[in-house]
Amino acid sequence: MKGIILAGGTGSRLYPLTRVTNKHLLPVGSYPMIFHPLMRLRRAGITRIAVVTSPEHMGDVVNLLGSGRRMGVDLTYRVQDEPGGIGQAIGLCENFTGTDPFCVALGDNILAVDFLKDVTAFSEILSGTERAARVLLKEVPDPERYGVPRFENGRIVEVIEKPASPPSAYSVIGVYFFDRGVYDIIRTLDPSERGELEISDVISVYADRGCLSHGYLDGWWGDAGTLEGWHEANELARDLVYEELSDDKWT
Ligand code: G1P
Repeated sequence: MKGIILAGGTGSRLYPLTRVTNKHLLPVGSYPMIFHPLMRLRRAGITRIAVVTSPEHMGDVVNLLGSGRRMGVDLTYRVQDEPGGIGQAIGLCENFTGTDPFCVALGDNILAVDFLKDVTAFSEILSGTERAARVLLKEVPDPERYGVPRFENGRIVEVIEKPASPPSAYSVIGVYFFDRGVYDIIRTLDPSERGELEISDVISVYADRGCLSHGYLDGWWGDAGTLEGWHEANELARDLVYEELSDDKWT
């Protein structure tokens, strides 16, 4: 399985912190934000990873991560020319993922735990069918800030982006699994009111076709994309250490 980390966007919700730097390079705990999704992918056994970022910040991101060798991963880069949403950013990786299934991790999502069990569950599902997607859910006090699943008989039938009246108390967190069919779905999407190809719309197509599965995240989770979320994530990740990233690799 391959991986994609999305680190584009303007970071406007974090201005002026992101006036001259990319949101994903801001500190969260002891690391630059983007280290967190990278290490979670690596710990899930996913080492061939494409990083998508904006032209303004590509240089800084490459300066920090390089080939990925110091982190035990093999990195490829893709430029997202303008912020057109998560759907658009995934669409840039079609040649990179080829026929392989893949996991998308949002660069601003901070997780306390690994998700290897979902990689395994998704691989098992894909051994019996060609079309499948999987999302991870977390119960939250403020679902209206996120993509929210609507359930019928225990299955997700739709995901609604930032609903005013959330149909459940769960957020779809920024870790998604797809088969290669996702690219055909992205090509059919229209931009939302905020001018983006929404990941929630992509997932809803899988739900509608009956090929969406979901898992639940056991530990804490934070979306560091807003000022409030970034403070929360820093608090939660304060003592988080990736032992495999020893300091001498960075001096
Ligand atoms: C994005 C997705 C949303 C998801 C969230 C998780 O929101 O659109 O569905 O729940 O990430 O962090 P955004 O950060 O673009 O507001």
